[in-house]
Amino acid sequence: GAAVEVDISNLKDGEKLTVEWRGKPVWIIKRTPEQLKDLPGLDGELADPKSVRHPEEFTPPYAQNEARSIKPEILVVVGICTHLGCSPTDKFVAGPQPSLPADWKGGFLCPCHGSTFDMAGRVFKNKPAPDNLQVPPHMYLSDTKLLIG
Ligand code: FES
Repeated sequence: GAAVEVDISNLKDGEKLTVEWRGKPVWIIKRTPEQLKDLPGLDGELADPKSVRHPEEFTPPYAQNEARSIKPEILVVVGICTHLGCSPTDKFVAGPQPSLPADWKGGFLCPCHGSTFDMAGRVFKNKPAPDNLQVPPHMYLSDTKLLIG
């Protein structure tokens, strides 16, 4: 079928794996404890911090939590901007960087029109992207085997 099986046993803290699912890039990112700790504090700056907009399309029930994931450390999102479909670039490192706020905690920047997303793929306020990055349907087949789709 269209589902994709992924072995994440070699994924280290702060690393990203990209797989293709239905012609789209899906990112699997192992977040560091620091990155997870920063998530709740960003809620006030985000457009949809609790991922309640269009949940059927963007956030399955098992990802409707602060980390937007089944296992807190593992983020699974479609790497396509919800504005006009560009691919955001990694800006995992916290701190001042060109075209990002000085208090940047890590996440993604869309080069097309400047939408920014946090380490849970949640879009910041007043950006052209209307929604958080899509969490695709997925489940764990074992501790280190993920099924996407
Ligand atoms: Fe990403 Fe427009 S396509 S901000």
